[in-house]
Amino acid sequence: MLILSIESSCDETAAAVVEDGRCVLSSIINSQVAEHKIYGGVVPEIASRRHAENISGVVRQAVNDAGVPLSRIDAVAVTHAPGLIGALLVGVSFAKGLSYSLKKPLVPVHHLRSHIAANYIAHPRLEPPFLCLVASGGHSHIVECRGYTDFSIVGCTRDDAAGEAFDKAARTMGLPYPGGVHLDRLSQTGDPNGYKFPHVRVEGYDFSFSGLKTNVINMVHNAQQKGEALRLPDLAASFQMAVVGQLCEKLVRAADDLKYGKIVVAGGVSANSALRGELQRICAQTGRELFMPPLSLCGDNAAMVGAQGYYEYLAGNTADLTLNGSANMSIE
Ligand code: KG4
Ligand code: ZN
Repeated sequence: MLILSIESSCDETAAAVVEDGRCVLSSIINSQVAEHKIYGGVVPEIASRRHAENISGVVRQAVNDAGVPLSRIDAVAVTHAPGLIGALLVGVSFAKGLSYSLKKPLVPVHHLRSHIAANYIAHPRLEPPFLCLVASGGHSHIVECRGYTDFSIVGCTRDDAAGEAFDKAARTMGLPYPGGVHLDRLSQTGDPNGYKFPHVRVEGYDFSFSGLKTNVINMVHNAQQKGEALRLPDLAASFQMAVVGQLCEKLVRAADDLKYGKIVVAGGVSANSALRGELQRICAQTGRELFMPPLSLCGDNAAMVGAQGYYEYLAGNTADLTLNGSANMSIE
């Protein structure tokens, strides 16, 4: 089954053609990062306008690269939630138009479910059930994936998402948007024990990152006021370790308690080198299987939407032309 998929939830306009949920025939990503960088973050109005300008070309290129005529497409999948509403609506409207004109089913896909599905592309033998850490710019969840379309949240952030904390800390340190990847790079030469961050205590499997973020902001402002120089690589590495430590601690505790031997990581933050390294080390020590997307599938893309779209279609989760975008929607 060939699915043409579309993603426009934030600042990437993307389209892909995916076969049977696992095989990517084409994947085009048009990133707006260079433009939003000027403002230090995504400007929703600009994002919507660029999606509207770019979507036709991106979809056309995905279809051309796949080498299949539009008539061979079996369904159109699209990210419909959660995300920036104006941005989502561009993809949803375009997908509705395509589905109507091709007379093919329309498949709405939840953004975080698609991040998880990026792992189905990278690991052809991976099947649910497994325990998954989903960490992106807007969400940080520990999710029980009982089936391809059956999810149960066991923990989530009480305040900021991990990616958001990385981005704010990076901005305070003078790094460009999007900060996570720059903070990761700066950390490579730093000492993760160079600065002390408090151990965050939150009940159950929930997270909290806003205290760590405030901590790093205060450290930078205090140093500026006193005219002291900070060892930025050490600060970046220490902050990163505090965030990664909390993610790993809760994930491993949940895996222990809920008896999961298979762990999956997903979302933009799954590109973080310290997180990847820590989880590899812990899973090797405890004999757990670990699945992570390659760096090329960690960030927003449409291939993952095509992967999840396949399983949503098989589960009968299609929509009619009244489909709307939603800024907020639970993965469950
Ligand atoms: O999933 P994603 O691409 O978009 C959303 O759905 O939000 O995630 C983007 C987030 C941003 O906060 C970005 O800074 C973070 O993922 N990120 C990273 C790294 N690469 C991307 N955070 C830490 N280390 C990285 N290497
Ligand atoms: Zn995302």
